[in-house]
Amino acid sequence: MTFLQILMEEHRGFKAMLDVTDAACRRIDAGADVPLPMLRDVVDFFEHFTDRHHDKEEEVLFPLLARHGIGLDQTVVRALLSQHDAGRMYCRKMEADLARLVAGDRSARADLTDHARGYVELIREHIRIEDEYFYRLADQLLTHAEQEKIIAEFGGAAGPRPQSSDRERYMEMIDRYAAVVSGWQA
Ligand SMILES: [Fe+2]
Ligand SMILES: [Fe+2]
Repeated sequence: MTFLQILMEEHRGFKAMLDVTDAACRRIDAGADVPLPMLRDVVDFFEHFTDRHHDKEEEVLFPLLARHGIGLDQTVVRALLSQHDAGRMYCRKMEADLARLVAGDRSARADLTDHARGYVELIREHIRIEDEYFYRLADQLLTHAEQEKIIAEFGGAAGPRPQSSDRERYMEMIDRYAAVVSGWQA
């Protein structure tokens, strides 16, 4: 797989989990319960799996692009970075809402759906910018060796990160929760 395919494949998984999140919000709005372990998994997925992808972009992709003149002085890079940060802020808020829910505070449901919807909208737009513009720009600029470096980091090759067992656990969540959600609609 090319680095473009690897990164866009990760995005596809994130988008499936964003759809799951949307469905969970609608269910909570309707007054029904969404199991707490599922809500915890969804927030964990975004906080640790999606955000690991953002970390890797910041540590590997952005510095390589900076060598080609697409650095922090470029509006698009600054916008993408600030979206990563805003995503982290939403994750911290969702964590806090979850902690209140676990403690039995039902009023946290509305806060959780508000923050979750903010996150969904933000990350969908972020993925759109990267898929439709930014990754293609990277594809045109990066050398073969630079692209190989990105594949090694994102593709789960040997190294300190990513932990492949974690990756499998998160990939499995996508299918499992998509099936749960389609059961709700049946
Ligand atoms: Fe990103
Ligand atoms: Fe990305």
